[in-house]
Amino acid sequence: ETVEWEAASFDMGGHDTYMHKEMSEQAEAVDRVLRGRIDDRFSTVHLGGLNLDAREARGVRRIKILGCGTSYHAGMIGAGLIEELARIPADAEPASEFRYRNPVVDPDTLYIAVSQSGETYDVLAAVQELKRKGARVLGVVNVVGSAIAREADGGTYVHAGPEVCVVSTKCFTNTVVAFALLALHLGRIRDLSVADGKRIIEGLRKLPGQIEEILAMEPEIEKLAQEYAGAQSMMFIGRVRGYPVALEASLKLKEISYIHAEAYPASELKHGPLALIEPALPTVAIVPNDDLLEKNRAALEEIKARSGRILAVAHQHQEKADHTIVVPKNEDELDPILMGIPLQLFAYHTALAMGRDIDKPRNLAKSVTVE
Ligand code: AGP
Repeated sequence: ETVEWEAASFDMGGHDTYMHKEMSEQAEAVDRVLRGRIDDRFSTVHLGGLNLDAREARGVRRIKILGCGTSYHAGMIGAGLIEELARIPADAEPASEFRYRNPVVDPDTLYIAVSQSGETYDVLAAVQELKRKGARVLGVVNVVGSAIAREADGGTYVHAGPEVCVVSTKCFTNTVVAFALLALHLGRIRDLSVADGKRIIEGLRKLPGQIEEILAMEPEIEKLAQEYAGAQSMMFIGRVRGYPVALEASLKLKEISYIHAEAYPASELKHGPLALIEPALPTVAIVPNDDLLEKNRAALEEIKARSGRILAVAHQHQEKADHTIVVPKNEDELDPILMGIPLQLFAYHTALAMGRDIDKPRNLAKSVTVE
């Protein structure tokens, strides 16, 4: 697989920051990762470079996804998609933690390394350790020909195009879409029905248009960000599919605004963090219209009962929230792909309102190639 990156990609193209440019490129980037891969006849997708035939795919007993930062969060959503669509037990772990704890390397586990740059040292070292122990490792990588892409036994490129800003936005979205493709591919080799395959494909095709709809909400999100920019600290909550979205949104806010933020599974609130809730600590809640809607609403009530301010990202107006960003609904499994995008814009405009240097956040580098 090859991608041609035009010199124009490194140009700001009329945007004030690379981050803004890259957020605004997400619909076309998703279109690119989907292009040429969908097979309507068998309601599946083809991923050319996986190097994993159907028989081998059926033999996979478990999937372990490794990455750092935003790529780790994308991997968490990926693990959820693989479990839901392919019914293979899957989880994600920070690559550095994995390396240092002397993990049990199991021959029936398929390992997947996720990285935008393909050069992150902790991820590369985990891949090399796994390969030394005879494991099969796939890469879900953006930069073509990068170290991790070369070390892996196969994998898929996420085709986000060049990402210059230190904080990852479009690559996160494309990585999650790449995982949806992989999950669909594995699912259709295993027990996912033709009808469900078709349903997911229809959902995937809707994504670029829905991303455009979300990006068009920028003026509204900018106003909200200005309201919340005074906060010292913020809480992000989500449940199951929404939890990695909350983690990623809180990381974006931390990285560029330097506002302290915590992300918790909504169900864990009552086990401790509820003690933090008071009017000065706003909560951003991920509230999709899925089977957990009522449970999530109950969490909003808990917060409201402590006079906490709530900004919900949801598919319909949330009565208990002070503000709701209403995003377009897709298939339940694919909702996490869309629900993080308004919160990228939210972090961006919060940081802007606070006068931060968005493309050069303090203490951070685009790729961490040292231990
Ligand atoms: C993203 O906003 C971060 N700057 C950071 O967490 C990043 O995702 C991480 O360092 C991993 O980088 P990679 O995807 O290039 O491996």
